[in-house]
Amino acid sequence: MKEKIIGLLNGAIDVLDAAQVAEILEEPPKKELGDYAFPCFRLAKEMHKAPQMIASEIAEKIEKPDFVDRIEVQGAYVNFFVNKTQNAEGIIAASIKDTYGSVDSNGKVICIDYSSPNVAKNFHVGHLRTTVIGNSLYKIFTKLGYKVERINHLGDWGTQFGKLIVAYKKWGSEEEVKEKGIEELMRLYVLFHDKADEDPELFDEARGWFHKMETGDEEALKIWKWFFDISLEEFKRTYNLMGMEFDHFTGESFYRDMTQGVVDELTEKGLLTDSEGAKIVDLSEYDMAPCLILKNDGSSIYATRDIAAVEYRKKTYNFEKCLYVTGQEQKLHFSQVFKVMELLGNDWAKDSLIHIPYGLVSLAGEKLSTRGGNVIYAEDILKEAISKIREIIDEKNPDLSEEEKTEASRIVGVGAVIFNDLYNQRIKDVSFSWSHITSFEGETGPYVQYTYARCSSILRNFEGFTPSADIDYSVLTDDTSSELLKEISKFPGIIEEAADRYEPSVVARYAVDLAQAFNRFYTENRIMVDEENVRNARLTVTAITRRILRDSLDLLGIGVVEKM
Ligand code: ARG
Repeated sequence: MKEKIIGLLNGAIDVLDAAQVAEILEEPPKKELGDYAFPCFRLAKEMHKAPQMIASEIAEKIEKPDFVDRIEVQGAYVNFFVNKTQNAEGIIAASIKDTYGSVDSNGKVICIDYSSPNVAKNFHVGHLRTTVIGNSLYKIFTKLGYKVERINHLGDWGTQFGKLIVAYKKWGSEEEVKEKGIEELMRLYVLFHDKADEDPELFDEARGWFHKMETGDEEALKIWKWFFDISLEEFKRTYNLMGMEFDHFTGESFYRDMTQGVVDELTEKGLLTDSEGAKIVDLSEYDMAPCLILKNDGSSIYATRDIAAVEYRKKTYNFEKCLYVTGQEQKLHFSQVFKVMELLGNDWAKDSLIHIPYGLVSLAGEKLSTRGGNVIYAEDILKEAISKIREIIDEKNPDLSEEEKTEASRIVGVGAVIFNDLYNQRIKDVSFSWSHITSFEGETGPYVQYTYARCSSILRNFEGFTPSADIDYSVLTDDTSSELLKEISKFPGIIEEAADRYEPSVVARYAVDLAQAFNRFYTENRIMVDEENVRNARLTVTAITRRILRDSLDLLGIGVVEKM
């Protein structure tokens, strides 16, 4: 409908093209102002006339087609009141398709580097954010026809493993590590620093062990690999709980044999300079701190491995874009890495490498369960959410089978945490409150899932009904039906906006708007009525809403249940 209105205006205005008209055209919040309003202020300058006069002239020029009921001039605006029946027909015809909002393969590849927890450290709330944002971007870009490579750049290489090996050999035991896993590894790491405060020689020992790792020493690599396996197993438990997968678990260690190539290339191109025994790329010309490439003991660092990773990914996947989802504190690191890629002569680096930062999770006043050393594990938060939702479901819906309750609690509990994380703009800090997150009302995951289950339950009462575009559209012209249809019509644009801005919150907010519009529609319109034409029209809208709610939640990485 919008396209058609733009067409009408375009035909009546010589000085603007369709894209410019589209930019100016508004959708007024008040229905007295029509469905679309065209303000003429911008034209006044160009046409040297009062905007009111321009509005009248435009209105006069347009011959009212039958998809428009009325065209009114109000002040400097030309207001269009679309024909509600035809509008409903257009929206249903488009949205009734299962593929509504999806784009066929466009042949382009996007790499998303996200989650990436650190081996021998716990998977904490911060990593939960990168995980859910990255996973949602994967869903969004896949829906738009991209081939997405989901890359987990595990923090599994670096001097910290030298420290860990020293601590393990001096104060650890195989049994303790086997029994307590990451918790014990974290204890050993802290212990190392406590002891090294008194005995700085421990640092030299640690460097020695990392050097052994870098030069392929069997014993060093065996211990490291053991810690790696323990950690990955724990991380995978958290991913399984969330129903998430990766295409590549290629962490920093994966690039360890490629860092020498990076050093050679930088040397060849004259980019490497000495600085107190270390090797750096000077970036002062770009107002940035230097990018450290080799420490003075000759070992590679985080940035070296990231440069190797970009080159490997470009060569292997030929990506259009490579996105990095991490906290804001890594902004400088990525600016440095991207700049070095540019200086190496990669023209594509400027537009293709994109850092996607996000804010912190603030736990103001919330009691969250902690394990040793007061650290909060993402896994514990998810489990707690599941058990809290289980209590609510037990109370609300005692008739569900044990199996249904278990399934619903997991999907709704995990969904509650994910939704809370994605509802606000990613750059903003997220506040965490159990009572809000798990509420079945308000802007929450459970509310959207509950609305989905309500649609399912309505449709279950009409077995044998199939949604169809062959319905009486005049039934769908009341206010709440029109508003619901308007929300339905927005879905494809919402996905594109979320992708353009790398912003899953656009989808999360939309899901709430759609759920609210449906609940208003449902309060005002009885579905269980005798007139078949009325029933069929309303059921069709219900079925379409149900599917878009499911698809919206799926774009956020959240599942649905039929009963909850
Ligand atoms: N392991 C890092 C951390 O926990 C995140 C890695 C991000 N990805 C990258 N290519 N540097 O902070």
